[in-house]
Amino acid sequence: MAEAKRIVAISDFPRYPLLFGPSPVHPLERLSDHLGGARIWAKREDCNSGLAFGGNKTRKLEYLVPDALAQGATHLVSIGGVQSNHTRQVAAVAAKLGLKARLVQESWVDWPDAVNDRVGNILLSRIMGADVELVDAGFGIGFKESWENALEEIRAAGGVPYAIPAGASDHRLGGLGFANWADEVAQQEQELGVFFDTIIVCTVTGSTHAGMIAGFAGQDRPRRVLGIDASAKLDETRAQVEKIARNTAELIELGRDLRDDEITVLAGWAGDYYGIPVQSTLDAIRLTGSLEGVILDPVYEGKSMAGLIDLVRTGELGRDCNVLYAHLGGQPALNAYSALFKN
Ligand SMILES: Cc1ncc(COP(=O)(O)O)c(C=O)c1O
Repeated sequence: MAEAKRIVAISDFPRYPLLFGPSPVHPLERLSDHLGGARIWAKREDCNSGLAFGGNKTRKLEYLVPDALAQGATHLVSIGGVQSNHTRQVAAVAAKLGLKARLVQESWVDWPDAVNDRVGNILLSRIMGADVELVDAGFGIGFKESWENALEEIRAAGGVPYAIPAGASDHRLGGLGFANWADEVAQQEQELGVFFDTIIVCTVTGSTHAGMIAGFAGQDRPRRVLGIDASAKLDETRAQVEKIARNTAELIELGRDLRDDEITVLAGWAGDYYGIPVQSTLDAIRLTGSLEGVILDPVYEGKSMAGLIDLVRTGELGRDCNVLYAHLGGQPALNAYSALFKN
């Protein structure tokens, strides 16, 4: 390929270490054998850090924290659903830095579990000392009034808020964490003697998938980076992935425009609503749990694994494929979904 090479290394951007190091990569042998097609591996962002169970946002926040510290932030301010994994990770990072966390938790999911606002992620955020505000507003990945109000209140009280949008996505630096993930994968491939031709990643607020697209685009060997939509708002999510992927590509000076065929978000496994699992989600959670001892959540990873399972079963990802499943975390939310697994 006669494509321009990246001249700014991702390692040139300031990064505040929050992870243990490279996240583990390992084969899912029994799941691969059971499905009888592609060989499936996992890269484990669910155990990437010692901060409150880690996850994909912890990796993204490594690139936002230096900016927050440079601005003299007193508060990290963010937003998500009641069971947001993202806000839990913001709370953990604030605790680690000695800052305050102000979290706007909206009713993104109409989920009737009696302890939805007491257990799992929100419980952990409270334990870590975050100021948690429950707000009655529906799902949306854009900028919200409640979040602007929180920022304004902190300013009015003399604090310096650092604004982190939903999922740390629609932020200038939001794609860097997973652009760097792409380099980490290439390094691990060298060590393991394997090449992952296909990456499967859950996508909702977009910067995980988008960062990967930008990062892998700078590598010599092409591969597919397939996003599985879990937002049930495909057009919005695809537009956000595209925007962040293009911004991140420019930021890391990729030196060429991303092609449309590098930005693929697949629908089919989200069900009708963000946060509400469907039968394929529950089947994927049980199958992965019972064959591999690997735990997935019903909001994100259960849906992306359902997509992966179908793509292997239908032969779209054939026997000659090596697939890397990005496990992005999210298990604490399972506590609010216990009724689904009673039998
Ligand atoms: C566990 C988990 N998986 C996947 C995602 C999707 O990542 P992103 O919001 O960067 O698209 C999120 C967050 O939204 C998450 O918490």
